[in-house]
Amino acid sequence: MQYYFAPMEGVTGAAFRSVHHRWFGGVDKYFTPFLTPTEQPRFTPRQLREIAPANNEGLPVVPQLLTRRAADFIWAANALAALGYHEVNLNLGCPSGTVVSKGKGAGFLADPDGLDRFLDTVFSAVSVPVSIKTRLGVRDPAEFGRLLEIYNRYPVSELTIHPRVQKDLYRGAPRRECFAAALARSANPVCYNGDLVTRADCLAAQAAYPAVSALMIGRGLIADPALARRVKGGPGADIATLRAFHDNLYGRYCTLFGSRHNAMLRMKEVWSYLLFLFDGSEKLGKRLKKAADPREYELQADAIFRSLPLRADAAYGWYRPA
Ligand SMILES: Cc1cc2nc3c(=O)[nH]c(=O)nc-3n(C[C@H](O)[C@H](O)[C@H](O)COP(=O)(O)O)c2cc1C
Repeated sequence: MQYYFAPMEGVTGAAFRSVHHRWFGGVDKYFTPFLTPTEQPRFTPRQLREIAPANNEGLPVVPQLLTRRAADFIWAANALAALGYHEVNLNLGCPSGTVVSKGKGAGFLADPDGLDRFLDTVFSAVSVPVSIKTRLGVRDPAEFGRLLEIYNRYPVSELTIHPRVQKDLYRGAPRRECFAAALARSANPVCYNGDLVTRADCLAAQAAYPAVSALMIGRGLIADPALARRVKGGPGADIATLRAFHDNLYGRYCTLFGSRHNAMLRMKEVWSYLLFLFDGSEKLGKRLKKAADPREYELQADAIFRSLPLRADAAYGWYRPA
């Protein structure tokens, strides 16, 4: 089974990916957070930093694009192919209001005819395999019947399904029965994504869906950066490696942002998941999140590494009853 690191805007940028790969690995593909191509057929300097081969060396990376304009997708996908990428992913899952109101991400799912025309144009013009990351629909999972018929008409290299609708955001349990039905009817390879946190979750998903080509994990892999490696039979995380990972990432952010304060803010995002791997992290976690300056932040991170034991699995319970 292949394991993918889900794209997570604000967390899984180039620095995070390379530091994760260095200290933990176990991931078969890393998807970039979405890039939005515009009518100007060139990437911005910020986008270029994200996708520059030099910043992704030795990593299996799949760039993700967010747009509803076929022409913009085509120039960007072909430019990415020219940079050496072997796959480009289309985001049809982002549920955020600002994206959806422009008819992009999960918002595009409200317009199946437009999506069909978009895919028809894209697949006749791109020079690189295109995969799709989708939700089940906007309001009702029954919308997926029509959407899957459309996807089945195109050579989608892999269809990642996050079995929620846009209105669910990330609430409630993933709609597993809808996923199973879609898996049975997809003409293209399918990847499952949603709420895999523990090794047992991953093994259960492998057993439940032997036909999937891959499992994609987002929050669970930030909460336990060794999760993919561990599921494949490798070692779990230990404090020394987590600390090395932390210090490496914090150092990279300090250089990248030219500001320890901004690096601290970015690290707090990582900790909002990683804290769940530490037993009894409530008190120190609260202090770390409250830290107003980098010196204080560093002291609190150090206290966590020195005093809290690791759990066997991250206790990240976004959908489980408390
Ligand atoms: C903070 C955050 C940022 C995200 N950014 C993206 C993104 O850029 N592109 C995308 O397709 N999905 C994005 N997602 C969705 C994740 O890729 C993933 O589908 C979702 O978190 C469910 O998987 P998980 O339960 O394994 O985390 C984001 C989710 C979160 C919470």
